Parts: sequence; structure tokens; C-alpha cells
Amino acid sequence: MIEIKEVYYSYSEEVALNNINLAINKGEAVALLGPNGSGKSTLLKLMNGIISPSRGTYKFNNEEITEKRLRDNRFAKELHQKIGFIFQNSDTQLFCSNVYDEIAFGPRQMGISESEVEKRVEDCLELLSIDKLKDKTPYHLSGGEKRKVAIACVLSLNPEVLVLDEPMNGLDPRTQRWLVEFLTRLNKAGKTLITSTHNLELVHEISNRAILFDETHSIVADMPTNKLLEDVELLKKVNLVDPFYKR
Ligand SMILES: Nc1ncnc2c1ncn2[C@@H]1O[C@H](COP(=O)(O)OP(=O)(O)O)[C@@H](O)[C@H]1O
Ligand SMILES: [Mg+2]
Repeated sequence: MIEIKEVYYSYSEEVALNNINLAINKGEAVALLGPNGSGKSTLLKLMNGIISPSRGTYKFNNEEITEKRLRDNRFAKELHQKIGFIFQNSDTQLFCSNVYDEIAFGPRQMGISESEVEKRVEDCLELLSIDKLKDKTPYHLSGGEKRKVAIACVLSLNPEVLVLDEPMNGLDPRTQRWLVEFLTRLNKAGKTLITSTHNLELVHEISNRAILFDETHSIVADMPTNKLLEDVELLKKVNLVDPFYKR
């Protein structure tokens, strides 16, 4: 489904993705791990078509995603329907005056009839148990509520893939637990999950495959999540656990 070959990306002079090779199949649950600044968010943005490779190729469902194709509004919209992106900071994702319109925004953009839009919004409100928020202003919600609304906005487009950038950040333990279980359910229902996270306690619950970045912006391991968590030396080396940590 996702095929990334010899991809490099630089924002200015400095490289942010360094020769990335990666294939992800439909239905997988994959975690991206790595220290701050290693390139996780950049790779997620690339998968979502927010940026395109400086060098190398990115294919989604066998179609190459290039800057030129992304300039075609229809193509970009279609891609964003198939790959839903939950931003690290929900505030950048929420801009409507009430939650209902926020969730309806994507489907309306797709030109879906208003009665179908209404059905989708109601389904998403129910799925995330946020029905009582529908008339509220997203801006005034708590961090956990905002995250739920952001997820509802993406799910209302019924994407094939869900890309989540540090979704546990800023959530209290109970909301984190809720999210882990929610994501597990989505994956069991067939959605492909790609999640970047720092959370080594929960990562094995939201992924069975881990992709590890190091400070050179390269992938240094691609292995079952449980195996990676056992490899404390490797986690120390890439600066994901304290150098003095002992099991
Ligand atoms: N908008 C940007 N402009 C310039 N440099 C950026 C920008 N976003 C990220 N970078 C740089 O790219 C590298 C990778 O960043 P990022 O993908 O955000 O890492 P991570 O998500 O793993 O913390 C870092 O060196 C970071 O400073
Ligand atoms: Mg990041």
C-alpha cells in the first residue's frame, strides 16, 4: 500500500530524511520511534502528501505521489480522503466554529450530499462518544476532547490509513488508555495504522511492527515491536532510554 524508496527530504540545507526505504501493507499497525528531531513527523507528512520527496519515490496504492500531482487539487483531496492525518497539535487541525461543522468539513469538501454528511457526522459523534460536544466551539475544549474531535474529523472521510503524530502527547492516563483501545479496535476493523510515538509503555499495544529512527534521520531498525522493546542497548544507542537504565 505504501512504498518508499531511497527517499531524502531537506527543509533547507539540513537533511530531515536520509535514504528512507519502507513498505507498509494494508492492515498493518506500525509505530515510528526515534529521538526528537529524527524525522518521524517529516515522514508522516510525506506519507500524507503535505510534502513530497526531495529525492527518491513515494508510492501509495501503486501510484507515485509527486509535487506536481499534489498541485492538482482533486488528486490531493483524494489522497487526503484515503490517508487521514491526526496532527500532533490538535489546534492546527480545528478551525470551525462548532464541532459538528468541524466533522462535516471533510465530507462536505468531498461533495457528499448533506443527508449523507449528517449521517457520517452522527456516526462519528457516537463512535467517539462526543455527541454532547457537537454544538461547542472546538477552541474551548480540553486537550483530550480536541484529540477526539480531530480523530472524528478524519474518520468522517472513512480513510484506509490513519496516520497519527504523537497522539498520546498531552493526554491524561485514562484518555491515553481509551485511545489505545480505540486504535486497536480500528486496526482490527481493517484500518492501517501508522503512529509516531515516544511512549514506550504503550507502543506495543498500538503496533506490532516498529520502525526506529536515529539522530542521522535514517531508519536503523524495522522489527516486531516486542523485539525492539527487549533490545535495551539499541534503545540506549538511539537515545530513547536513559543511558544508565538497567532492566
Ligand atoms: N518546518 C521545518 N523547517 C525546517 N526544519 C524543520 C522543519 N520541521 C522539522 N525540521 C527539522 O527536520 C528534522 C526532523 O524533524 P521532525 O520530522 O519534526 O522530527 P521528529 O518528529 O522525529 O521529532 C529536525 O532536524 C528538525 O529540526
Ligand atoms: Mg515530531
